[in-house]
Amino acid sequence: MTKASAHMPDAHKVPSTDQLDRLRAQTPMYDAVIEEVDGRRIRIGDRWLIDFASCNYLGFDLDPDIIAAGEAAVRRWGTHPGWSRLLGNPRLYPEIEQRLTDLLGAPDTLVLPTITHIHMSVLPALVGGGAVFVEAGAHKTIYDGGSYARGLGAQLYRWRADDPDELVRLLRSADADHPRVVCLDGVNSMTGNIPDLPALAAICREWGALLYVDDAHGFGVIGERGDGAATPYGSRGNAVVRHCGQTYDDVVLVGGFSKAYSALLAFVAVPTAVKEHLKLAAPPYLYSGPSPVHSLAAVLAGFDVNEARGEQLRTVLHRLTARVLAHLRSLDVHTPNRHQTPVIELPLSPGYDLADVADLLWRRGVYVTLAAYPLVPRGQVGFRVQLTSAHTDEQVDHLNAVLTELDGRGALRRALA
Ligand SMILES: Cc1ncc(COP(=O)(O)O)c(C=O)c1O
Repeated sequence: MTKASAHMPDAHKVPSTDQLDRLRAQTPMYDAVIEEVDGRRIRIGDRWLIDFASCNYLGFDLDPDIIAAGEAAVRRWGTHPGWSRLLGNPRLYPEIEQRLTDLLGAPDTLVLPTITHIHMSVLPALVGGGAVFVEAGAHKTIYDGGSYARGLGAQLYRWRADDPDELVRLLRSADADHPRVVCLDGVNSMTGNIPDLPALAAICREWGALLYVDDAHGFGVIGERGDGAATPYGSRGNAVVRHCGQTYDDVVLVGGFSKAYSALLAFVAVPTAVKEHLKLAAPPYLYSGPSPVHSLAAVLAGFDVNEARGEQLRTVLHRLTARVLAHLRSLDVHTPNRHQTPVIELPLSPGYDLADVADLLWRRGVYVTLAAYPLVPRGQVGFRVQLTSAHTDEQVDHLNAVLTELDGRGALRRALA
């Protein structure tokens, strides 16, 4: 049994930031001040780089219709609501929750400013004095929510998605009289992979546990599958539960608008009775400031664009992603990405220095997420590349050429046999 206090030091002790400190001193790609944006190009100092670190997967950050909707809403509502959600909600809020609920096909939804707010408040409220089971590759913010829940009296355990039997053992040994909540990423924030939700939901239902899934990177990208889907992403971008053909029975979906929808807002999909309970039990609903008006309006306009042009945008996104993945395959380079999502992690060859890679990427004008320890485990240090529908083919050509150069220097791992 993997009880967190014994085996999950990184989750509750502050891990060493030495590597991050060193890298920050060595590369201008950390803690950068971005002076200017032009499509998917950004300027840092006097250097223009192509931005492959953006999570704006559908290009909504640059969409003229969405920008205009935000401007109009700000003129009508002012820049910022002056109330916590419990006090008062501009009408934009119920409209968002209704449209989101319809899109997801969920029983109901509650929106709060960020996913971090949700993990730190909804997770403890759901688990109470029960047990939280966090998957080993889950996002740090889920661990933080689990750790906070533990501080309030819950038990915290860790399990690995590649060992569902371990999860069963943990569930079997946990007190069935208290809530048990099993947490993991939907589209994983580093590997880009989609978990086996049907199998995990079946285990949770069998053992009377809730499955709590954070699909920050999947919402807007993957969605329900059917005959009409133009890409393996499925259609409508209505997230991992629908993508995997699951219902919301005993499944809590968490997602965010700050990636594919380019707006500061997040959601949790729950039954209406739970939503009403959370309005009083989740502190950010009562005590935190709301999302800015521009974000609220951008979400509503994003729903319109998703309906009108979402499939077109996802087709472009998939095509650009597939080009990078095909290139990596042709080089025989390893990436954990198996599901063609636009999140491509590239761990470095053992012993290769991330600072050297960062230096080459900088000189070639390619901006990425540098994944040093403790952002990833020590054995997976490398970088992450993300595609968006706002990239161009020429930009992908350039990325592929730079990946070839890095591979020629021995920086990238060989594909696993
Ligand atoms: C899987 C996952 N969950 C949560 C977050 C944090 O989201 P937020 O900024 O809405 O708190 C991120 C951000 O990168 C993420 O990738």
